[in-house]
Amino acid sequence: MAEPGSEFWLYRGLRKAAGTAAHLLGLAFTIGIGVVTKPGTSLFSWHPFLMALAFSFIMTQAILLFSPESSPILSYSRKVKVRSHWVLQGLATVCAVLGLAIISCNKYLNDKPHFTSWHGLVGLVTVLYICMQSVGGMSLLYPKLMRKWSLAKLKLYHATSGLVGYLLGCSSLLLGMCSVWFTETVTGISWYLALCCPVLLALVLMNQMTNAYLKKKRMQP
Ligand code: HEM
Repeated sequence: MAEPGSEFWLYRGLRKAAGTAAHLLGLAFTIGIGVVTKPGTSLFSWHPFLMALAFSFIMTQAILLFSPESSPILSYSRKVKVRSHWVLQGLATVCAVLGLAIISCNKYLNDKPHFTSWHGLVGLVTVLYICMQSVGGMSLLYPKLMRKWSLAKLKLYHATSGLVGYLLGCSSLLLGMCSVWFTETVTGISWYLALCCPVLLALVLMNQMTNAYLKKKRMQP
């Protein structure tokens, strides 16, 4: 695609800056949640920490490693990137399932009703969705099992539904921060700053995926 020189460099520069910001935000948010919840001090403390680790840090890294501007393994082959992607996504899924099991167990032990809040409902859908997405991702490792669709189509469907999964994850993080527990623990400007993290992550990754990946795939026959 021919793009005028200076505009192209400005565009690449902005995308690199946004990608770097996403790396830092994903890490800062996970550390912040870790500092607030102090994982290990109670059974509940593991839930927000594991969910932040899964969605804000690991999943963000798993997606950004395909970015042509801000991948931490930019110079590595496509094969290494794909392998790292599914290892990280697998790890994120394990953390999310553990996080769900822990909060469900904690509620059961405290005799509290399950899935009664928007956060609980959207969170449940998110975890089920990313489990299905991981199973779907396996069809890309063994494309011969899915003869109905071409590999290009499978990749496009995987990237599109992956973006939906990531946005669901960011929504669950946001709703988690609206919970009574979090709003009582983190107040004032810190609460607003924490809220900005998943919003900015969602915007940056949506832009990176639609511009760099989905557009290219759409153009393929
Ligand atoms: C993508 C990330 C997250 C997912 C998928 C998720 C999922 C869930 C689910 C399914 C429940 C309900 C469990 C049940 O009713 O048995 C729940 C409860 C809870 N979560 Fe999360 N969670 C996430 C992140 C967070 C974060 C970051 C926080 C805190 C900042 C948090 C705080 C809570 C609290 C306080 C509850 C108990 C109250 C309620 O049910 O709303 N969660 N979560």
